Amino acid sequence: MNLVFFGPPGAGKGTQAKRLVSKLGIPQVSTGEIMRAELKSGSDLGARFESFMSLGKLVPDELVLELIKKRLEADDAANGVIFDGFPRTVGQAKALDGIFGDLNRTLDRVVVLDVPEEDIVERISGRRIAVDGGQEYHIRYNPPPAGVDVKQRADDNEETARKRYQDYKGITEPVLEYYAATGTVVERIVGTGSLDEVSARIETAIGE
Ligand code: AP5
Repeated sequence: MNLVFFGPPGAGKGTQAKRLVSKLGIPQVSTGEIMRAELKSGSDLGARFESFMSLGKLVPDELVLELIKKRLEADDAANGVIFDGFPRTVGQAKALDGIFGDLNRTLDRVVVLDVPEEDIVERISGRRIAVDGGQEYHIRYNPPPAGVDVKQRADDNEETARKRYQDYKGITEPVLEYYAATGTVVERIVGTGSLDEVSARIETAIGE
């Protein structure tokens, strides 16, 4: 199964994708996580992402598509993937259709997590990441256990969150019009409520 988890920054795409990975036996492919790993490794490619990411700006399509093509070649992606944070522009969505066409694969569903802007800002400002292992928490909704050392992402402040949300509305949301026009199945999920409530809605939407 090939799924796209879609929605504004902080909607819970990563949290929910991780919850489904073992159940579906397919990996989460988060362009944001791949880029942060490249940055951390000190690679030349990572350095090309930094100026965009630190300002909450989208990374140019050609760089993103380079990563996606490489990731889809890995053995664990052979039976499907859960894209998280990709595609984010109509150009990326069209390119993904082309890549899948070449690989004889199809995109089964796009799952949209709808969350209002004010919740987004609260979620992003409260997000914390475990220094060891990268597990994500929220200081209020999913607090890290005592003794777990956590840090904040460089782009997780209110100003950048609002900028990312505006880009979502202006640049990323139009991808849904493209999917409507191409007949791709799009499931809209209420992304507020507990983590378990959101997971249950997603599982119903994808027939699990
Ligand atoms: P990326 O890493 O993809 O960030 P994002 O899309 O902005 O999404 P987030 O990771 O912020 O949110 P999420 O929806 O995964 O939410 P999460 O589960 O963490 O991208 C970062 C940057 O990389 C971009 O700005 C751009 O520069 C670049 N980039 C990446 N992909 C790109 C692409 N394709 N093209 C161009 N540039 C690209 O949840 C958020 C918080 O809320 C957590 O603390 C979580 O614990 C909490 N939470 C989750 N669910 C709930 C709930 N139900 N109730 C309460 N709290 C909840």
